[in-house]
Amino acid sequence: MYNSKIIGLGHYVPENVVTNDDLSKVMDTNDAWIQERTGIKERRHVVKGDGDTTTTMGVKAAKVAIERAGIDKDDIDFIVFATLSPDYYFPGPGVLVQRDLGIKTVGALDVRNQCSGFVYAVSIADQYIKTGMYKNVLVIGSELHSHGLDMTTRGRSVSVIFGDGAGAAVLTREEDTTKGILSTHLHSEGQHAEELSLIAPGMGNRWVTDIMEDNDPNDESYFPYMNGQFVFKNAVVRFSEVIVEGLEKNKLNATDIDLLVPHQANLRISQFIQKKFQLNDDQVFNNIMKYGNTTAASIPIALTEAWEAGKVKSGDLVVLAAFGSGFTWGSVIIRW
Ligand SMILES: CC(C)(COP(=O)(O)OP(=O)(O)OC[C@H]1O[C@@H](n2cnc3c(N)ncnc32)[C@H](O)[C@@H]1OP(=O)(O)O)[C@@H](O)C(=O)NCCC(=O)NCCS
Repeated sequence: MYNSKIIGLGHYVPENVVTNDDLSKVMDTNDAWIQERTGIKERRHVVKGDGDTTTTMGVKAAKVAIERAGIDKDDIDFIVFATLSPDYYFPGPGVLVQRDLGIKTVGALDVRNQCSGFVYAVSIADQYIKTGMYKNVLVIGSELHSHGLDMTTRGRSVSVIFGDGAGAAVLTREEDTTKGILSTHLHSEGQHAEELSLIAPGMGNRWVTDIMEDNDPNDESYFPYMNGQFVFKNAVVRFSEVIVEGLEKNKLNATDIDLLVPHQANLRISQFIQKKFQLNDDQVFNNIMKYGNTTAASIPIALTEAWEAGKVKSGDLVVLAAFGSGFTWGSVIIRW
């Protein structure tokens, strides 16, 4: 058995900055409400017609990660792509990355675990590397939310939170099993599936011909729904549980954490976790202020920025943790 380790990180966000004041011009909201409830100051939105998609952003992030990993794209043995906002209903973006990067015909897998998507994707990559099946795995988290948000007052409690962007990591084989990814921990609780969901264009028990015939501009099932307070309450509990689970599995304590990179759901959630584990500001990395919640992209964007800022050093204990729609949640414990 081997371990896996992250050897390259990259991210890409659209240039277009959308501030809270910008949003207040199109819906009844304001900077004070958004900052107080979420910590978000601005986010990035793709500009209509400029060609950026979930896949193209993922490819841009992946190119940086591959270059920093110091490997050739043809050394990649497998692709895992996490998103809730795929370019197409099918096929998923994994194969589009294989095509657009011009990688040989390696396997490409799509992960549908929303805010926990990157943690799930890393866990999958880790298993393949651990068993020796693959040596280098490209993991991408990318989201294009802005096209699908209700940018009116009706959708304000959801649409002010989410932003566009992509992050990527290259994982490779580590022979020393005391280093790299020590363990991953995944959970789900489908009984709360609809509490944070986007029902359309899922077929459910609907016929697509009926949907097209209805062509109802007021069909809210095409916009994401979130029971905000319920999500918040579950998030703080599950984040804590899964971090403890990961630490205990490795006989570690919260005091051993050098850097916690939580999914950027809401700054208040991160602050709650920070307080609970008595971590100082240097031990928790947040960038939701700049990007909002970018779902599957949020951890790889944050991890990339933390690494670029020199906050991730060899030997550090780095913890990734996520919670989101499904509900799904998980953690990754890394000895960098
Ligand atoms: C979404 C969230 C910020 C909302 O905050 P909240 O304190 O729960 O706010 P509420 O939904 O109770 O709404 C409070 C009031 O603000 C209003 N409001 C909602 N969105 C608003 C906005 N963008 N601007 C101004 N007012 C807004 C509501 O209409 C409500 O008004 P009312 O009291 O007159 O009815 C918060 O619930 C949250 O962060 N939840 C977790 C979200 C999350 O982490 N999601 C991702 C998980 S991966």
